[in-house]
Amino acid sequence: MKPKDTISLESKVALVTGGTSGIGRATAIALGAAGAKVVFSGRREPEGKETAAMIRDVGAECLFVRSDVSREKDVKALVQKTIETYGKLDCAFNNAGIDPPSIPLHEQSIEDFDKLMAINLRGLFMCMKYEILAMLDRGEGVIVNNSSMAGLIGFPGVSPYVASKHAVMGLTRSAALDYGKQGIRINAINPGIIATQMIDRLTETTETTADDLVSAIPMGRMGQAEEIAKPVVFLCSDASGYITGQPLVLDGGYTAQ
Ligand SMILES: NC(=O)c1ccc[n+]([C@@H]2O[C@H](COP(=O)([O-])OP(=O)(O)OC[C@H]3O[C@@H](n4cnc5c(N)ncnc54)[C@H](O)[C@@H]3O)[C@@H](O)[C@H]2O)c1
Repeated sequence: MKPKDTISLESKVALVTGGTSGIGRATAIALGAAGAKVVFSGRREPEGKETAAMIRDVGAECLFVRSDVSREKDVKALVQKTIETYGKLDCAFNNAGIDPPSIPLHEQSIEDFDKLMAINLRGLFMCMKYEILAMLDRGEGVIVNNSSMAGLIGFPGVSPYVASKHAVMGLTRSAALDYGKQGIRINAINPGIIATQMIDRLTETTETTADDLVSAIPMGRMGQAEEIAKPVVFLCSDASGYITGQPLVLDGGYTAQ
């Protein structure tokens, strides 16, 4: 009997930014479970060590690099360290991101806007730049950017966040066109409401409750980080070999309404 096809990232090297919690952590583990060697970054050493132990538990090699995506020298060093350690970069998941205070636009401060853009947009742009430079050398690679369903539709109270995630879609689509003939595929994922610290912060600092959030989701529940991780593994694999420049919406039906 012919063996069933399974998604494998055996012999691949994957990079995850913001891999010390939430969606990034779950994806770093899932990439490892699919056979990849995993480099992941974050700013917090203890959570880095904890995540590294989880990745090794699924039988994968990994490296934690302390690194801030808003600093160019950190981003450059992160990609360099990946190449020095594992010899190449096959897949990158640009996931690091922050959420703004939940208030109307005229109350948002310029400082908070700049801080958010420095991470969610400028940081992601710099990651793409150095990842692509490494991938161009070998003429192959896959990038997955973590946008959001807020990269496709508007939400009240978080206009800077929504703008940053729409901009991630612009980078994704345009870069996919730039590098399509050079063997580099670039896609985005668009998660809905996923149970992570980001949603905890929203329900802890505003009047919005978890029940309010869930009541708007057609599937009647929040997503789990693992349910985002597996589609990222798919986008990193050859199983998605003809997909580029696309959003993959993972929102329990939210944007179908
Ligand atoms: N949770 C959701 O409902 C949801 C929905 C759509 C999109 N997203 C996106 O998913 C991504 C991950 O968020 P999460 O929900 O897992 O929350 P999270 O807060 O657990 O994860 C964010 C990660 O980004 C890291 N990070 C933040 N600033 C950084 C910086 N300057 N340098 C390096 N790392 C940095 C954090 O340390 C953390 O590990 C974010 O980009 C977020 O916008 C989340």
